[in-house]
Amino acid sequence: MSVLITGGAGYIGSHTVIEMLAAGYDVVVADNFYNSKPESIRRVKTLAGKEFPFYQCDIRDKDGLSEIFRKHRIDAVIHFAGLKAVGESVEKPLEYYDCNVGGTLTLCEVMRDAGCKRIVFSSSATVYGSFNPSPLKEDMQTGAVTNPYGRTKYMIEEILKDICRSDNEWTAVLLRYFNPIGAHISGQIGEDPNGIPNNLMPYVSQVAIGKLQQLSIYGDDYDTADGTGVRDYIHVADLALGHVKAVDYALKNKGAEAINLGTGTGYSVLDIVKAFEEANGIKVPYKIAPRRSGDIATCFSDPSKAKRLLGWQAQRNIDDMCRDSWRWQSQNPSGYDGLG
Ligand code: NAD
Ligand code: UFG
Repeated sequence: MSVLITGGAGYIGSHTVIEMLAAGYDVVVADNFYNSKPESIRRVKTLAGKEFPFYQCDIRDKDGLSEIFRKHRIDAVIHFAGLKAVGESVEKPLEYYDCNVGGTLTLCEVMRDAGCKRIVFSSSATVYGSFNPSPLKEDMQTGAVTNPYGRTKYMIEEILKDICRSDNEWTAVLLRYFNPIGAHISGQIGEDPNGIPNNLMPYVSQVAIGKLQQLSIYGDDYDTADGTGVRDYIHVADLALGHVKAVDYALKNKGAEAINLGTGTGYSVLDIVKAFEEANGIKVPYKIAPRRSGDIATCFSDPSKAKRLLGWQAQRNIDDMCRDSWRWQSQNPSGYDGLG
């Protein structure tokens, strides 16, 4: 079985390519390198010990995508490609709608024309918005999102549901990720953000290595055990394995299905700082700063549907996540640029 992985050079995509190859799938990867480097593909090939076709292709390029489907018999697509920075999406909504929504429409048209009607899509817990209480369940209302990035994820979920309603040959697995962190156990691939990181774990790692002076904790007056924000952090390798199970499922089932990929456990920002310090024996200086606009107090999953439908459950704990994040950061202080 052959699976096209869009955005396969990126953070979650690169880990998923490795797990898909290990599970015996053939993969074809397409990425425009907007937010990734060719070096990640090179390292994935070395780690997997396997070659696979790679295309530098934008998902909005219909001819380029069609050419990939002409050259390869693709049974299913895992669709990671897209823009993902919440703050940037507020500044550049057109770019986000064009790339995420427009790109997905083009991809689906090409898939339909090629007779490939199975897609596993990277959605996000952000579609639950700020009103639903945690643990978040798939049947809760979605759509009360607060920024264009979140709205693209919600819109794409609705588009894929409509496609499945209109044609019962389609399968769409809408994977709602919680907070992916960690890196491959080798320390060879990991998250390589451009500029100053927005997300907690890359920021903590860059403070630990001395690139940034101290962490700002955005608010200690939330209604949580220690006052700092609580999230459901999930190891990227577990997330990658969830995609293998989602493809297995998509090959055997029809229709649209939203599925959470989280651990079901929430950790606060201070929990993460402590866990990182203990796992790695390194101090992470921090200060308490004002709340970040748009943040919610608590967000964690009910992961039981993934267990029931996919037979998948996260295996790695917070210490594994902190250790593996640090291994990647310390071995590659400049990310893929350092070619460490
Ligand atoms: P990433 O930026 O590392 O990976 C995305 C990849 O897509 C990059 O390699 C980028 O170059 C590529 N890409 C972007 N636009 C493209 C286009 N038009 N054509 C072809 N390739 C394109 O991000 P990630 O963290 O690996 O996230 C993967 C997916 O998961 C994204 O859709 C993201 O929105 C979603 N997601 C991520 C998180 C998270 O916290 N990392 C959480 C929820 C959902
Ligand atoms: N935080 C800090 N300091 C930082 C960065 C983050 O205190 O420098 C805190 C945040 O306030 C939050 C927690 O750490 O309480 C996690 O923040 P992240 O930015 O790492 O993650 P978010 O939960 O805010 O966002 C993530 C994804 C988004 C997605 C969202 C909802 O990055 O793409 O989950 O699912 F939209």
